[in-house]
Parts: sequence; structure tokens; C-alpha cells
Amino acid sequence: MARARVLSGVQPTGALHLGNWLGAIRNWVNLQESHDTFFCVVDLHAITVPHDPARLAADTRSTAALYLACGIDPAKATVFVQSQVAAHSELCWLLNCVTPLNWLERMIQFKEKALKQGDNVSVGLLDYPVLMAADILLYDADLVPVGEDQKQHLELARDIAQQRINSRFGTEEAPILKVPEPMILKEGARVMSLTDGRSKMSKSDPNEGSRINLLDPPELITKKIKRAKTDPLMGLEFGNPERPETDNLLGLYALLSGQAREVVASECAEMGWGRFKPLLAEAAVAALQPLQERYAELAADPAELDRVLANGRQRASAVAEATLARTKAALGFLGAG
Ligand code: TYM
Repeated sequence: MARARVLSGVQPTGALHLGNWLGAIRNWVNLQESHDTFFCVVDLHAITVPHDPARLAADTRSTAALYLACGIDPAKATVFVQSQVAAHSELCWLLNCVTPLNWLERMIQFKEKALKQGDNVSVGLLDYPVLMAADILLYDADLVPVGEDQKQHLELARDIAQQRINSRFGTEEAPILKVPEPMILKEGARVMSLTDGRSKMSKSDPNEGSRINLLDPPELITKKIKRAKTDPLMGLEFGNPERPETDNLLGLYALLSGQAREVVASECAEMGWGRFKPLLAEAAVAALQPLQERYAELAADPAELDRVLANGRQRASAVAEATLARTKAALGFLGAG
């Protein structure tokens, strides 16, 4: 039997952080053992907000290198760059023409990002979830491993596939697009900012101290954790709604040290911040060290990364082109039947 398909991606905007790793990429590494996996660097998504053309290519390469450094194995998974597979843009157009505008206007992330940009909001920012739906649907993905913040976008992809394509242009026996399922981990799906336990860790937060980037050197990681927001109470605990920072930092400690939450809860129950923060910093530095070493090796061998991406592009294109042709045929295009 064919293995179930997985597709996911990260935007090459700014440095990848602990949220991207613990919420998404960590899960990809496990899935590549049991599933047919496709991981793309979604560079077309990165231009939905103003971007720097001088940085886009380098950020795209470094994001792909980080996938590999995190443990994605190109012998098992297909790693590719979204803009190098033209079918993403083409399917996006087809889906645009059947997606109601008000579905997009409801998207929480659009509303949040649009608010920050005032009059400069692009059509691309509004359309971003349709492009994301195209990314997923092109690969007939069964599962999409993401953090909690992408859940609404995944529901939209499901609705477009089911209600707007399959039920209008297909039959129950022969659906055109596969309806994907989200896969959101119980722990790590919502890593919060170091400076505000009520908002998520994000690449776009102007305060660098709010996040730990995967390539931050040990001294910087230690400094950011030292300055992380806390509260004046003694003893650390999970799940107290009045103490979101405590919950977040303890959760990070559990994930980064590889210990169960119960173990961490009892280890830290009587601790003050002065003892806890160095422990957390040490766990973060140790967890990121192997990844940073692998990244340095990859950065020294750009030809190897080029080979991986060229191969990924070829494998991804073959799958994507077949889905695009099937969809164009169902929509009645000349020469597509
Ligand atoms: P992006 O680039 O913002 O984030 C990449 C992945 O990291 C997860 N994530 C988090 N998880 C836990 N805690 C956090 N603080 C945190 N911040 C980010 C995200 O949920 C995501 O899984 N639209 C997507 C990229 C995308 C995509 C796709 C994903 C485009 N096409 C197709 C899956 C399938 C995005 O902007 O993710």
C-alpha cells in the first residue's frame, strides 16, 4: 500500500525560531520515517509582506539548510523551493476563482497582519491562504503537520477542496482533490514570546529578545533567557492562567531537555527564577548545538544543497503537474482533458 502523504512548509522570512522547530519541523523529522513527505520553503508566501530582494534567495537557501540541519533527510523526504514549481501559482489562480472573498476576509492572521500594515496591504496578503491551499492540495497530502496558528488556514484548504472543487466539479466516487487533515502536536504547538506569555513567538515581532532563533549563539540564548519576562512568585507551575510566562518557560524546558512535563513540574515546583533560568539556558544551548553544527557543515558545501534542491524540484514537479492537469481537465480547459 502507498504511504500516506505529508506536506508542510516554512516561510523564509527572517530567522527560524524555537516555535517553528518545536511546533512543526520536529514533527516532520518523525514523519519522514513512516510517510511520503514533501517539505517546501514557501518563498512565494514571503513576498506577501514587503520584502528585501537582496535577501530572498539567501534566506530561502538558509531555510532549506535548516530543514536538513534539523534532521530532514533528502534520501527520505522531498525538499524543494515553492517558486521553482510553477504549478503552485497556477493552481492558486484556479482556486482563487472559486473561493468566496468573505472566507479570506475572516482569516485571523490576515486581520492581524493587515492591521500592522495600514494602507499598504497587498492582494497577496489576503490571498495567502489560497496559495497555501494550493501548496497542500497539489500533493494530495493526507496530513499537514503545523503549529496551532495555521489551523484556520488548513480548515480553509479543506473547505476549498471539498465544497468548491470536489462537490462542484467532481463526483463522490472520483474526487478531484484530496481533503487533507491537520496534524498539530499536543506540546510545542504554541510556543509563546519570551517577552509576553500571551502572544506567540513570531518572526515578525520587532523585539529580537522575544524569540530564540535556531542559529543564535550560546551567549545570546543565555542573555535572552536571562531577560525573559517572569513574575514575582516563588515556585514554578504549569497551567496557571495568571502565569502564562511560567507555563511557557516550563514547557520549553520540558521539550528542550527531553523530559516529561510531570518530571519537570516536580523538579521545579520549589524553584525560583534565579535557579531555573540557567537550567533552561543550558537545555536550550545543548538542544540547539547539534543542529547548529550540522548547519555550519551544510553552509560550507553550497553545491550539496543545490543538488538536494534540484532533485527535490524534479520530484515535486512530477506530483504537482499531475494534480494540476487533473484539476484543469475537471474545470474544462482546452487541451487539458
Ligand atoms: P510560518 O513560516 O509562519 O511557520 C512555520 C511553521 O511553524 C509553526 N509556528 C509555530 N509553532 C508553534 N509556536 C509558534 N510560536 C510558532 N510560530 C510558527 C507554524 O504553525 C508553521 O507550521 N502559512 C505557513 C507556511 C505555509 C504552509 C503551507 C504550511 C505555506 N504553505 C502549506 C503548511 C502547508 C506559515 O506562514 O508558517
